Amino acid sequence: MTMNDVPIIAIDGPSASGKGTVAQRVAERLGFHYLDSGALYRLVALTAMRSGVDLTDEATLADIARHLDVVFSGVKIQLKGEDVADAIRAEACSNGASRIAAYPEVRKALLQRQRAFRQLPGLVADGRDMGSVVFPDAILKIFLTASAETRAQRRYKQLMGKGIDANIATLLQDIQERDARDSNRSVAPLQQGADASLLDTTLLNIAQAVDEVLGLYAEICAKGV
Ligand code: DC
Repeated sequence: MTMNDVPIIAIDGPSASGKGTVAQRVAERLGFHYLDSGALYRLVALTAMRSGVDLTDEATLADIARHLDVVFSGVKIQLKGEDVADAIRAEACSNGASRIAAYPEVRKALLQRQRAFRQLPGLVADGRDMGSVVFPDAILKIFLTASAETRAQRRYKQLMGKGIDANIATLLQDIQERDARDSNRSVAPLQQGADASLLDTTLLNIAQAVDEVLGLYAEICAKGV
């Protein structure tokens, strides 16, 4: 048995599509490991912003990516021992992550770190290039999306639920700008691969989306691929 025999479910899609929650629940249901690859980009952005590194300094950003001292344990994300799970979700960090993710050196520096999550009995990986670059041999590739308006509304409810004031028009604009940046960059752009199944969750709730993914995975397992 080699590493490549460990099954991967790759879930790619745009910001605020709910793919993180769906991926996490699918992983729980299957007893698989979970990789939140976006968190790695966010951690690089957070470290850079905290230490005053210019977000256009590709070489220094790649160096930060290579030396990230991070431990993922459940919902906790510890950066040098500090829990930064909430800090990396701040809007400034989301925008910073989207900007630094356009640099090839940063992406390259994070590649092996992401592949190391491939452990038995399997992995659910969520991001933008899980199926196209990081795990091209994934057994199941999903492109999970929802309309920008629906995603803005979901983010709005999520923020209000946490007592954070938000403006739906600003959120929609941020989402559209981030979509454009993530989709139009030259390296590993966000796009639905020819071998990925489209899962549009505009009219689905989380449980329904999770069931769709599990159904697709069960079909593949039944075929004995
Ligand atoms: O999934 P997320 O919103 O946490 O990702 C944050 C940013 O990181 C997003 O704007 C794009 C980038 N990203 C990426 O380029 N490739 C990935 N595999 C995951 C995230």
